Amino acid sequence: MTDQTITSVSREHRLIRPSAEFKAQANLGSDATYKRLYAESVNSPEEFWGRQAKEHLVWRKPFKKVLRWSPPHAEWFLGGKLNVSENCLDRHLGTARENKAALIFEGEPGDVRTITYKQLHFHVCRLAHIFENMGIGAGDRVAIYMPMIPEAVMAMLACARVGAIHTVVFGGFSPEALKDRINDCQAKLVITADGGWRRGKIVELKANVDRALEGAPSVQTVMVVRRCGNEITMVDGRDVWWKEAWLGAPNTHEAKGFDAEHPLFILYTSGSTGKPKGVLHTSAGYLLGCKLSSQYVFDLKENDRYFCSADIGWVTGHSYVVYGLLSNGATIFIYEGAPNHPEPDRFWQMIDRHGLTILYTAPTAIRAFMRWGDNYVLRHRLDSLRLLGSVGEPINPEAWMWYHRMIGKKRCPIVDTWWQTETGAIMIAPLPGLTPLKPGSATRPFFGVVAKVVDERGREVPRNTGGKLVITKPWPSMLRTLWGDDERYKKAYWSEIKDVYFTGDGARQDEDGYFWIVGRIDDVLNVSGHRIGTAEVESALVSHPAVAEAAAVGRPDEFKGQALVVFVCLKAGHTATDPLKEELRSHVAKEIGSLARPDVIRFAAALPKTRSGKIMRRILKEIATGGIVKGDTTTLEDFSVVASLQAEE
Ligand code: WTA
Repeated sequence: MTDQTITSVSREHRLIRPSAEFKAQANLGSDATYKRLYAESVNSPEEFWGRQAKEHLVWRKPFKKVLRWSPPHAEWFLGGKLNVSENCLDRHLGTARENKAALIFEGEPGDVRTITYKQLHFHVCRLAHIFENMGIGAGDRVAIYMPMIPEAVMAMLACARVGAIHTVVFGGFSPEALKDRINDCQAKLVITADGGWRRGKIVELKANVDRALEGAPSVQTVMVVRRCGNEITMVDGRDVWWKEAWLGAPNTHEAKGFDAEHPLFILYTSGSTGKPKGVLHTSAGYLLGCKLSSQYVFDLKENDRYFCSADIGWVTGHSYVVYGLLSNGATIFIYEGAPNHPEPDRFWQMIDRHGLTILYTAPTAIRAFMRWGDNYVLRHRLDSLRLLGSVGEPINPEAWMWYHRMIGKKRCPIVDTWWQTETGAIMIAPLPGLTPLKPGSATRPFFGVVAKVVDERGREVPRNTGGKLVITKPWPSMLRTLWGDDERYKKAYWSEIKDVYFTGDGARQDEDGYFWIVGRIDDVLNVSGHRIGTAEVESALVSHPAVAEAAAVGRPDEFKGQALVVFVCLKAGHTATDPLKEELRSHVAKEIGSLARPDVIRFAAALPKTRSGKIMRRILKEIATGGIVKGDTTTLEDFSVVASLQAEE
């Protein structure tokens, strides 16, 4: 990507100041407090984080050293021991929070369950025993492939309790994708459900697990939650019902303390090359990052009822459904199904029904709500809401204004939060009530985050100039490595500029120091807020018998952020037809999941390549956007390829 593309961000000048009312009750008081704490956090990180870790986390054994940084490997809170599940549950028992709702769940069919902290603790304790009886303990990997139901949260916390490493695989991923993830981390246990509800239909999760396990021999046990009552096959000696395992398990569980750096979870995410990357997060630093950011960025109050619409299969679901919120003793609301089922006003209905106060969702959802029409919103009061959040991709200023006006009734601040699976917690975001907002900007860095916009050689660029977004100092919730592939970890994140974390995003900083994120500048697409690697889509296509070669690129899309356009060269003997296009689209969905289904397939006689044989995606991107190929084409091996692709438009 060229600098020209990086800078092409709309110039947005509106400034929305916090209301006096919100400001008066904000957790951090004033902007001066932010500035003072921020300065301390970056100038004396060890003092700052040491103090926060003592204040915010419950330790079994105090840490001796705050940070050991031997780039690119960081260790935080050395010598300390803690239990993450105890930090999310036990700490609230015996306090006024004990009987507070930890979790309110609404299923797509409309069933509602409320679970208090005491009850959630009880469930997690029992499950922890069940795990231990199955021989699952510290360091073992557990795959969680579940709908958004309370048992998914329980499963994560029970893993944390016994020191097992969970890897949550989004329920929309295919059996193939699930198999690859299980094999990569050699999971011993899979937790799933018979199915989950999505737009009135059942997603056959257990059947998918069965298919995945045909090629995943590490799995010894599958635990199955009864959710939809659909017919499934239980394999003797391997599969157990959650309910049956449940009977007879003791109610209390003495949690052990684990090292601050004990691995907590692996979460697979798309990279620019090859297979998905197993991002590894550990215990104390991760939890601290989530807890502190939840408290300040969402300005959490004791009576909040917080709704994050992300699935736990994504990092947002890990940090801002489970760990950040429960460690703060907040009430989380989780919803199983689609936002437009049975009607496009499902979110607004639920907000009124449950008196939800905070909504954290993605720009792609906001754009869908806009498209469905204001009438669906206007039927509902939404007067319980006090704060809105956005995450996953850049939010267009117009969508921001709509969210502000229609949902927030101009009363609720919007926190546009920039972060990544790798960063573990929010990195750039406003502090509501303190930070004046600019629609489309994630504003300023959170505590401890040293973010810079740099050029190709790592030099900071002047304000209002586009460049690469990097983080120059370690932070507690940063990823520690990629599971089983430390070389890839070094190469993917730390090789662009020595000892500096490269985010893969382009950005600019404006005259006030606010960050404007443009989006990915590597070969990763952001389709409806989901990261999809072009390499993954290409491998999926090439695995089809008719395909010789394929290239995937993104095209700006009004609703999805980016649409997925693929160029396909067929093997001899295959004819380019519409049914084949359809077949290829379904093939990709089957291989990866329907989130990766290409929007457009174009057959090509050949792909534009450099003389060394590299596909020139930049050119394909220009063709996909309907533009004239104007960039530098001198490295192109054969220009006639481009000419014929353009002629086909
Ligand atoms: C993009 C999701 C602009 C960005 C938490 C990043 C954003 C990628 C924002 C990470 C935002 C996330 N503004 N872009 N507020 N939030 N992104 O790992 O390109 O699924 O690199 O983590 O999403 O996606 P991931």
